[in-house]
Amino acid sequence: MRAIAERFIKNTDFTEDEFRMLVECAEDPEAAELLTQEAVRIRKKHYGDKVYIRGLIEFTNYCRNDCGYCGIRRGNLHARRYRLTKEEILECCARGYELGFRTFVLQGGEDRWFTDERMADIIRSIRASYPGCAITLSIGERSYESYRLLKEAGADRYLLRHETADEEHYGKLHPSEMSLAVRKMCLYDLKLLGYQVGAGFMVGSPGQTADCLAKDLLFLKELRPHMVGIGPFVPHHDTRFAQEKAGSVELTLFLLSVIRILLPKVLLPATTALGTMDPQGREKGLQAGANVVMPNLSPRKNRKQYELYDNKICTGEEAAECLECLARRVEQAGYHLCSGRGDALQE
Ligand code: 5AD
Ligand code: FES
Repeated sequence: MRAIAERFIKNTDFTEDEFRMLVECAEDPEAAELLTQEAVRIRKKHYGDKVYIRGLIEFTNYCRNDCGYCGIRRGNLHARRYRLTKEEILECCARGYELGFRTFVLQGGEDRWFTDERMADIIRSIRASYPGCAITLSIGERSYESYRLLKEAGADRYLLRHETADEEHYGKLHPSEMSLAVRKMCLYDLKLLGYQVGAGFMVGSPGQTADCLAKDLLFLKELRPHMVGIGPFVPHHDTRFAQEKAGSVELTLFLLSVIRILLPKVLLPATTALGTMDPQGREKGLQAGANVVMPNLSPRKNRKQYELYDNKICTGEEAAECLECLARRVEQAGYHLCSGRGDALQE
């Protein structure tokens, strides 16, 4: 197992089979340690000890989709729905700016109320008030034309996890009207339009095998996204996966290291899901090769309602108000928070 890890460090140009063998190395502490060390070295080389921060604004939990794993899927009649007004969104940005954030991530379910016109209007207002800040969207699948309009309005980046690059697995997690092909097309459209693009997947989602993960890595290699978001799957009580096991923190950390080696300059968040599964999860993520954290800037009254999975942390030290506590924790892990836009480095 050590041999395949060593080979990957020398040359990441792996086939699907090789990626599968690499994923299986997660079981071997020696091979895993080797990969972690290399990931930390590469992260240091490109980013030093900097950790970038993004202010996450969860602006709507209405969603037209019905993903099997997600607490805000349309079929969940227990979800209490909310939508922030443009004014509320701008207040979040103002609060975030004061706190030192220079990237705002507008994340929401696929909510048709936010038409191109309404989204563009919000983006233009943020852009006008904060010309030096980056605007990231995370609002799901839309048409090329829609992505183009939103880019023109001032959006810089787009997060759209592919969730799984295995066709059959994709089908198990999603309703029949959704497809991996459309998801991939959206990602390529976004790239073509000049967005900095983030893909990603859940670790340990129901039915995921080493083969699925090999396909995920192969797809990342092919897409070459600027950002990759991964976090453990966490069951939500109002979904058909309520009784499934959560994804493993160790495997997530292992994959963070593998992705850092595969895409050396990638922006890699230590995600909220990782922090939810382990109180030290985000620090461990940084020590495995991650270099971004995304504290919650949403209005306090709505945070619990944006419940993608159970026990989501959102009011403690991961919240934007407590940037001081976060800064301290990041320092203790050997890094320091950096208040800049934190754009993707050129390849
Ligand atoms: N567990 C972990 N992550 C989840 N997401 C959605 N539901 C869950 C869950 N139950 C992730 C998806 C989505 C991102 C916004 O949150 O990967 O793309
Ligand atoms: Fe909203 Fe998956 S349930 S996009």
